[in-house]
Parts: sequence; structure tokens; C-alpha cells
Amino acid sequence: MKGEFKMAKLLYIQSSPRKERSSSNKIADAFADAYLKQKPKDEVVRINLFEKVLPPFDGFTINAKYNIMHGQKHSKSEADAWAIVEGIIEEFKSADKYLFSVPMWNFGIPYRLKQYIDIITQPTYTFTFEQDKGYKGLVVNKPAMVVFSRGGDYSNPEIEKQVDHQKSYMNLLLGFIGFTDIKSVAAQPTLAGGPETASVKIKQACEQAENIAKNF
Ligand SMILES: Cc1cc2nc3c(=O)[nH]c(=O)nc-3n(C[C@H](O)[C@H](O)[C@H](O)COP(=O)(O)O)c2cc1C
Repeated sequence: MKGEFKMAKLLYIQSSPRKERSSSNKIADAFADAYLKQKPKDEVVRINLFEKVLPPFDGFTINAKYNIMHGQKHSKSEADAWAIVEGIIEEFKSADKYLFSVPMWNFGIPYRLKQYIDIITQPTYTFTFEQDKGYKGLVVNKPAMVVFSRGGDYSNPEIEKQVDHQKSYMNLLLGFIGFTDIKSVAAQPTLAGGPETASVKIKQACEQAENIAKNF
């Protein structure tokens, strides 16, 4: 309807299992609070990927996917398995805006976030491929904010280029499924510099995140 104001849904996806001890969640919480202060009518929906039930993305589910997508015969249990995947994709795509909190694990991302990505990154749902046009993301016109935390300090761009598979991967993946407006902050080092440095870095990252939230 003309002039109608639509409330936006911000999907906040946490990938640290450390609950209130998590630095990435703390910074993302600061972002979400600042966001809601600006837009009190909007909705923030929080998902913690270590609490959410995620189906294994295994051979059975992949067979179900191919059988269903290629219009081939499939069993009831295959249809059920694929419906669970579709439900998770639908929940992901139902948001207008996204907030991710992502600790660095072994230079990359926590395995539950990778599992979630393997579930939601599906042809015809979040991207398409056409022989003449190549790949095209389908999650478009939606901003994303990503909070990174790292035990070490990779703020030197040369070092980051050599070892980072956390931020570079998130940027690659989000870009692949259609995101063009990706903002981020990184708190580092949260371990290597000792607790005092960590608390300064986390506080600085909270302030940066709050500033980004004002115009998100
Ligand atoms: C399993 C695991 C692997 C980690 N791997 C790395 C790593 O490769 N590089 C690094 O700098 N920090 C690493 N860390 C430290 C975390 O990135 C750091 O403590 C981060 O602040 C954790 O965020 P969180 O408090 O939100 O969970 C690792 C921590 C865990 C638990």
C-alpha cells in the first residue's frame, strides 16, 4: 500500500558457542542494540548456530537434492530431508538485513557456520548458473554486517592476505549469493595481547559497530 511503513527484519546469526563470554557476540550485540535504538519498530531475530538444529549435509541429503531438483523419483524420507533444507533457506531469505558474528577458528570460520552455509547455498534458491551468463546471486538488495574476532592480530594487510580465510571467505561467499553491501569490523587480538589489550580492542570494535548501525 502506498505510504505504508514496512518494519524490517534483521537476522542476527551467531557462530560462536561461547554465549556471554563471546567477544564477537558482544560486539554484534552492541550493533543490534544501537540498530534498535535507531529503528525501534524493526525486529531482530537471533539464531545461534551451535543451538539451532542443523541437518547433516550428507550423501543422503545431496541425493535427495539432485533427485528432487532433476524431477526424478525420490522417497518420502528424501522429500522430508530436502524440506528441512528448504525451511532453513526460507528462514534465511526472509530477512531484510543480516548481522553475522564470526570468530576465527583455525584461520577460517567455525564449522557450524560452514555447515549452515552449505545448507543455504543452493542453486535456484540463493544463486543461479547459466551457461552464457555464469553465476548470479539471488540474495540481493540486502545489507550485511559481519563482526569478526580473532585471537591473533592480522591487522597488517600483508599478514592478513597470507593467512586469513575468515573475512576473505565470508566476503567471497556473501558476494557469491548476491550481497553487494557488506560492512564489517574486526576485534583483534582478543588473546595474543593479553586481557587488557583484548578489552580495549573489543571496546573499540563495539564503538565502530555502533557507528555503522546508525546508518544500516
Ligand atoms: C577452535 C578455535 C580455533 C581458533 N583458531 C584461531 C586462529 O586460527 N587464529 C586466531 O587468531 N585465533 C583463533 N582462535 C581464537 C579466537 O578466534 C578468539 O578467541 C576469538 O575472539 C573468539 O571469539 P568468540 O569469543 O566470539 O568466540 C581460535 C579459537 C577456537 C576456540
